[in-house]
Amino acid sequence: MENELRIISVSKEFKDGYKALNNVSLDIKKGEFFSILGPSGCGKTTLLKMIAGFISPDSGEIRVNGERIDHLAPNERNVNTVFQNYALFPNMTVYDNIAFSLKLKKANKDTIDKEVHKYLDLVGLSEHRDKYPDSLSGGQKQRVAIARALINKPEVLLLDEPLSALDAKLRQKLLIELDTIHDEVGITFVFVTHDQSEALSISDRIAVMHKGDVLQVGTPNEIYETPVNTFVADFIGETNFLEGEIIKVYDNYAIAYEKDLGEFKVELDKPVKVGNKVKLTLRPEKILADNKMPNNPNDKYKILEGIVDEVIYNGFQSKLFIKLDNSDKIFKAFEQHREFVEQDELFEWKEKVYFYWNYEDAYLVEVM
Ligand SMILES: Nc1ncnc2c1ncn2[C@@H]1O[C@H](COP(=O)(O)OP(=O)(O)OP(=O)(O)O)[C@@H](O)[C@H]1O
Ligand SMILES: [Mg+2]
Repeated sequence: MENELRIISVSKEFKDGYKALNNVSLDIKKGEFFSILGPSGCGKTTLLKMIAGFISPDSGEIRVNGERIDHLAPNERNVNTVFQNYALFPNMTVYDNIAFSLKLKKANKDTIDKEVHKYLDLVGLSEHRDKYPDSLSGGQKQRVAIARALINKPEVLLLDEPLSALDAKLRQKLLIELDTIHDEVGITFVFVTHDQSEALSISDRIAVMHKGDVLQVGTPNEIYETPVNTFVADFIGETNFLEGEIIKVYDNYAIAYEKDLGEFKVELDKPVKVGNKVKLTLRPEKILADNKMPNNPNDKYKILEGIVDEVIYNGFQSKLFIKLDNSDKIFKAFEQHREFVEQDELFEWKEKVYFYWNYEDAYLVEVM
């Protein structure tokens, strides 16, 4: 089946010569919750505005269900956008804001009423229908904006950082609501965010952007566990990088050496040769820390010793910053508190620790 939304080799250079998008291609499936994730200035809004029709590409094509839309005006595209700043009509009630586009299309009164109530209900605002935007909370305004966009029954809903003006708790709540709305309406959502945890928790797939390039497209799990390069590994979540030189290659693993780490096993996520420099990403939650040497250590584990340089207690976990002995390298390790933890069982500053990981839990990102 033809993908619903195809972006094919799209580039954009602004008048001042700034290249905001370099040959961006994306295939977004019908009904998918697709996120575009990247740091500020990487081109997310530019790409979204291009899909909506507010910016035209210098080259490339945009297609919906096989038909080119890049030459169409915004109102000729079956695409609606929810912006970060709500853009509600301040002199209209919630009801009238949502009804606006149907009134413009001269739908009959009963249809309008039925539709508006359906979408008021969908976004949970039925009891606020007669309020003006001024007297709504940020989250409620954003829900009006979503209902107002959905009532047009677009094929694609574009959302540009719709939650960024909200506090963390409310963002979490609306994110879940957005997911529910997406399931109910079943249309394609293209969600722009610079918040990696937001993208990981809600998306079917994510495109990671950097300086106008799409670096990786994948499921949240693929992006997190198998990043294509150092930038993606570093941008998504937190990580430790292990660098070394390959000194021996076996069938299923290789041995790398680095002066502070000594020898360590490397899973062959990519082919390597003796003499290659390698870089691995090792997520902090995959490192185990203890104040004593692990007994019967498995030969899959690399064990290091250090001292606690800093410890951040988070209730459900402790974040340890461990300074490797005889080195200034710092490792991050997140220790989950799976069981009840007494005060005296917590790690302390300057405490001696053994920390270790299974070599299969690190991922080889770069071979040089
Ligand atoms: N009209 C314009 N003229 C010149 N440069 C522009 C214009 N619009 C955007 N840019 C530049 O293009 C780059 C991408 O901008 P864009 O708004 O797409 O970033 P973004 O990824 O949405 O960032 P943010 O997360 O901060 O919203 C930025 O460096 C920006 O300064
Ligand atoms: Mg933006």
